[in-house]
Amino acid sequence: MKDLFDRIIQDKGPLGKWAEQAEGYYVFPKLEGPISNRMIFNGKRVITWSINDYLGLANHPEVLKADGEAAMEHGMAYPMGARMMSGHTNFHEQLERECAAFVGKESAYLVNFGYQGMVSAIDALVSKNDVIVYDMDTHACIIDGVRLHAGKRFVYKHNDVESLEKNLQRAVKIAEHTNGGILVVSEGVFGMRGEQGRLREIVALKEKYNFRFLVDDAHGFGTLGEGGRGTGYEQGVQDGIDVYFATFAKSMAGIGAFFAADKEIIQFLKYNMRSQMFAKSLPMPMVKGALKRLDMLRTMPELKEKLWENVNALQQGLRSAGFDLGTTQTCITPVYLKGDIPEAMAMVQDLRENHGIFCSIVVYPVIPKGLIILRLIPTATHTLDDVNETIAAFSAIREKLEKGIYKRIASAAQKVVES
Ligand SMILES: Cc1ncc(COP(=O)(O)O)c(C=O)c1O
Repeated sequence: MKDLFDRIIQDKGPLGKWAEQAEGYYVFPKLEGPISNRMIFNGKRVITWSINDYLGLANHPEVLKADGEAAMEHGMAYPMGARMMSGHTNFHEQLERECAAFVGKESAYLVNFGYQGMVSAIDALVSKNDVIVYDMDTHACIIDGVRLHAGKRFVYKHNDVESLEKNLQRAVKIAEHTNGGILVVSEGVFGMRGEQGRLREIVALKEKYNFRFLVDDAHGFGTLGEGGRGTGYEQGVQDGIDVYFATFAKSMAGIGAFFAADKEIIQFLKYNMRSQMFAKSLPMPMVKGALKRLDMLRTMPELKEKLWENVNALQQGLRSAGFDLGTTQTCITPVYLKGDIPEAMAMVQDLRENHGIFCSIVVYPVIPKGLIILRLIPTATHTLDDVNETIAAFSAIREKLEKGIYKRIASAAQKVVES
């Protein structure tokens, strides 16, 4: 027998093993100063392309005022206890009514964190006789929800409707045998590559197969569809989504999330979603702050327009400079380059230190070996100067990458470490 912690200390996990080289710079970096298009990293001002503050609400004076006033009035504690026991207020209900109306559903229920909410909603929606069919590239919260499922699950190839249909056929066979139902899960927008989920085609499959459809629209809410109502509106199929989910952590620049669906389904979730039944209610500054933000989404269409002006300028500029942005159809802007992990690290360091640009970097095992994604998130607070400086910097680093300069820097650094 072993001490439990012996293994943990020896095997730090797939990401933890890189902590010594990466922590504080590539992971757990500290972006300081007010959330905006330019922040401080490592003591230097950088253009920030890694924050999901799509509509620029995080530091909007009206938002700061609403958050501050709510905190002054209620503190961070009120209401205490879980919603069911003592943590329920008129404001929670008001926010639910307004969220539901905004996304065109009968009813909504708040959750404190999107991640926990999604895990718990999937757990509540299916029983052991039901079958889940979900997209291979869905967010970790969906994967974790599926992990809790005691029945069958099938994963379909990413955004591949043919593969979904094949798996639906397998699911139907099982569900007929167990007398269960089928839950299909997709994202509205896939956060890594920026594709929209093929919601229209998935909803069309309801003509042939009996299933219910859950959509995680974390990145679509606020950025897509009429008035920012999300990917279902963008594709004209909101009614075909049976359970709609969005988080406040992105376009709403807050914390919390909600599910929206028919009244009976929300009523069921209220009484069966364990992450909410047994956890403290969302504090009032988050609730009142979310009401303010939602009001701004409804009444300030210029925020989404400005976001898209920046998205179009950045994506068109990068494409005309010859960059491969893959299949993005949304604000998420992945720039695909070729190189190994040490080269990618040297390149990102150059971008941050010498060009003043901060973006996320994605490498193997998240994407295939030899590929690097530099992922940019434009927001309404960016300017055309930010866009132009970034395109110039990207052109400069691509030239160095192609000349093998980062490979040489990386191998020189490795030799120093070894000596
Ligand atoms: C697709 C998706 N779903 C769910 C979540 C989790 O939401 P939250 O941050 O509210 O826990 C995220 C990340 O924020 C996300 O990107």
